[in-house]
Amino acid sequence: MNSQPKLHILFTSEEIEAKVKTLAGEIRRDYQDKHPLLIGVLKGSFMFMADLIRLLDFPLEVEFIRLSSYGSGRESSGKVRVVQGLRSLIKGRDILVIEDIVDTGRTTGFLLDYLRKKMPASVKLCALTDKPSRRQTPVTIDYLGFTLPNKFIVGYGLDWDEKFRYLPDIRVIEEEG
Ligand code: PRP
Repeated sequence: MNSQPKLHILFTSEEIEAKVKTLAGEIRRDYQDKHPLLIGVLKGSFMFMADLIRLLDFPLEVEFIRLSSYGSGRESSGKVRVVQGLRSLIKGRDILVIEDIVDTGRTTGFLLDYLRKKMPASVKLCALTDKPSRRQTPVTIDYLGFTLPNKFIVGYGLDWDEKFRYLPDIRVIEEEG
């Protein structure tokens, strides 16, 4: 496909940087003595996670999990499964899940349940963006960056059919017609 959708910037890289700094401050306040395990949800969280962790100057560990929720298009398949699992021991740890977006809530809802069954000391969620208008599974976001309108967004790790993850800002895909 050669045609590219039109994009317009919703949050600039400067706005994102400021927000990540604020979130890092809140996380440092709550976790600096806990040696937490931060679990990034691939792939979308990679850029946010890297920027966030650079600002957390205290002992922590890093893990990744890969879940599938979306197919190749814009709509969720509705079914979540673990594609690439965890290697770290979860039992007794303070866990902080790092997400780029909570949309229907199915992915995060599934992951939080999955982690709680492994008997961690605590599990919390940090999400850069939230689209509450799309929620189908209730999810509590403990550390939230931006609340989104009901638009499809890309950039800063987020994709549209694997495109645009590299953008340094967050952009809205404009509806055609
Ligand atoms: C996105 C995002 C979340 C999930 C949120 O991941 O990173 O994990 O969708 O959607 P939900 O709230 O409707 O479940 P995606 O499955 O698109 O994979 P990706 O991160 O590899 O792009």
